[in-house]
Amino acid sequence: MTRSPRDHYDAVAVMLHWTMALGIFVLIGLGLAMKHAGLPKARVIQLYQLHKSIGIVVLLLAVARLAWRFVRSAPPLPDALSALERRAARAGHAALYVFMLALPLTGWAVVSTAPLNIPTVLFGLIPWPHIWFLADLPNKAPAFAVAQALHKYGAYALIAVVAGHVGAALRHAVKGDVPLARMSFFTHAEDISE
Ligand code: HEM
Ligand code: HEM
Repeated sequence: MTRSPRDHYDAVAVMLHWTMALGIFVLIGLGLAMKHAGLPKARVIQLYQLHKSIGIVVLLLAVARLAWRFVRSAPPLPDALSALERRAARAGHAALYVFMLALPLTGWAVVSTAPLNIPTVLFGLIPWPHIWFLADLPNKAPAFAVAQALHKYGAYALIAVVAGHVGAALRHAVKGDVPLARMSFFTHAEDISE
């Protein structure tokens, strides 16, 4: 297949995409397990610490990814896509970027307003502050309730958007009009002929 260099994402975008996809899948699993699996309390506390640590890493990577997106724009969508498919792809990707940033921020808001006021220490090593203006509220209970609801329902909405994204990626890969190779580590310079 003949590819131009702009038929696939650059190495930084690919690395960020897959690192963050892994991180987000792990966060969804940890989040659901710590809230709903009925695990012993000591184990739940460990999972919370791990969830917070990975979540903050995802937040930092999301900022880096958005910045990189401005430096190196995405390769143009293939001509084979209809106008509707283009709009859907753009809207879906924009929604994923919004969730990548907003969801960790709401999680950070939860821990900053939590009545137990448990500090966040990333991977048990690096102290991470609360969001100061939330932590300093005289009555944190309403903000805590809002942050919890936003984080929980935001996570469920993210799961739905990611499911749609993966479904669309696989469907187009099968149809052959948008190859998965656009986001692959295994597309090398020698694959590009032009
Ligand atoms: C939490 C999981 C995921 C998130 C948050 C995510 C997010 C994104 C975003 C935001 C883009 C657009 C990048 C840009 O234009 O700057 C993208 C592209 C892409 N993603 Fe994902 N993704 C996830 C998982 C997956 C999985 C599991 C697959 C595999 C089926 C996949 C396949 C792709 C492909 C092939 C593209 C390139 C689309 C194109 O050709 O333009 N993604 N992803
Ligand atoms: C993309 C990033 C994130 C994802 C996908 C995610 C996902 C989830 C999920 C699925 C839950 C369980 C929701 C439920 O069923 O009640 C959850 C809970 C939670 N997450 Fe996250 N999370 C992310 C980032 C963060 C961050 C950065 C923090 C804190 C620094 C955090 C702190 C929490 C806390 C404290 C809970 C328990 C909330 C409660 O008790 O209602 N999360 N998360």
